[in-house]
Amino acid sequence: MSKKKLLLVLLLIMALVFAGLVGCGTDDDDPVDDPDENGTPIDDDDDTVDEPGEDVVITIAAGAVGQELELTEKAAQMYNERNEGVIVEVLDTPDLADDRLGLYLQFFEAQSAEVDIYQIDVIWPGDLAEHFIDLYDHGAGDVVGDHFPAIVENNEVDGALVAIPWFTDAGLLYYRTDLLEKYDLDPPETWEALENAASIIQEGERADGNSDFVGFVWQGNSYEGLTCNALEWIASNEGGEIIEPDGEITINNANAAEIIDMAAGWVGTISPNGVTGMAEEDARAIWQGGNAAFMRNWPYAYSLSEGDDSAVQGVFDVSALPAGKGSPAATLGGWQLGVSRYSNNPEIAADVALFMASEEVQKMRAIEGAFNPTIMSLYEDEEVLEAVPFFGSLYDVFINAVARPSTVSAPRYNEVSTAFFRAVHSVLTGDTNATDALEELELDLQDITGF
Ligand code: GLC
Repeated sequence: MSKKKLLLVLLLIMALVFAGLVGCGTDDDDPVDDPDENGTPIDDDDDTVDEPGEDVVITIAAGAVGQELELTEKAAQMYNERNEGVIVEVLDTPDLADDRLGLYLQFFEAQSAEVDIYQIDVIWPGDLAEHFIDLYDHGAGDVVGDHFPAIVENNEVDGALVAIPWFTDAGLLYYRTDLLEKYDLDPPETWEALENAASIIQEGERADGNSDFVGFVWQGNSYEGLTCNALEWIASNEGGEIIEPDGEITINNANAAEIIDMAAGWVGTISPNGVTGMAEEDARAIWQGGNAAFMRNWPYAYSLSEGDDSAVQGVFDVSALPAGKGSPAATLGGWQLGVSRYSNNPEIAADVALFMASEEVQKMRAIEGAFNPTIMSLYEDEEVLEAVPFFGSLYDVFINAVARPSTVSAPRYNEVSTAFFRAVHSVLTGDTNATDALEELELDLQDITGF
């Protein structure tokens, strides 16, 4: 077990033990305020952390992919310097979205006040709404107009704003400009062209002595990232969006099967066998070490790839992903900040969340970490565009990104996605073929959603 995972497990055990211990005491000595009849916690005890004269600690559970943790800590520091009496602390959470969700669910189950603010995925508002306060009751109405309306809408559940948009993203193709030139190839616009270019470059680089070199790295592990990759293949091959916004389950179709089978053919040819165990950071490590011609990843990998310690600094570019028989498609990703209903200091936590999502912080994160702002005006900001030129040149990719079917399947999206990525993974690993896997998946999705 990694040090990070061990620390998380320990933290969780401590939180659960603490919740259990106080639960054995008197009637109302739990650290969580009981909800009133509307479900809103009331300050019913004297055990909150904000004793007179003591600092209020606000804990934000945040990601640590790429520079995420470092930049969240930097923003926390900015808040701390300007707000005496409040200390914002950052709890680093697992990289894989599914693992992070698992951790959050344990905190929610225990109605834990340990975490005040959660960084939540763009696909979770519908599944997790009940655990968050309405940020419209805390001033979010004054700022939501600055953010992309579709992302704000995605965060509204029954009229409540369950989280404030923090950053958005979409899948991109990273490619080596030096190697395309060396082998006299163009940036691929179709999956077939990518397959061809990746195999020529891989063969050439291996013959030149780099036996570790691979053509294409992406996210093929059995987790949410595979849902994102596979949705891109399928949508770009006119295979639909798994479940359409009107509730029609469309995944069992020949175009979807064709492109999943094609991707299965990459495993062990232009992609290493290990790609079926890779997440974002695994792919980035190979790419940034100079050992891949192409990578599918999110924008955050751009700043790091341009870093001084990167083997690909100055010799790569990014574009829209290739297309199948349709147009290129990028999956819409991104993260929001929600304030826990079980927080002892919701008012202060909401203020911190709004600060974290403010123009000032989003601009800093865009420039230093290539995290796409959700505030529209920042796409016209000269300093942002200078640091991350593709925020301008690939603007359409971000605006037209394909959403996963989370709104239509809420609160069951996680089950839908799990069934989907497991089915795709079983094809990638050669356990079955796509036609059979999708036939079975359709039945599973009917069971899960009732559609
Ligand atoms: C990125 C995206 C997120 C997605 C995840 C999958 O973090 O922003 O929306 O669920 O990748 O790995």
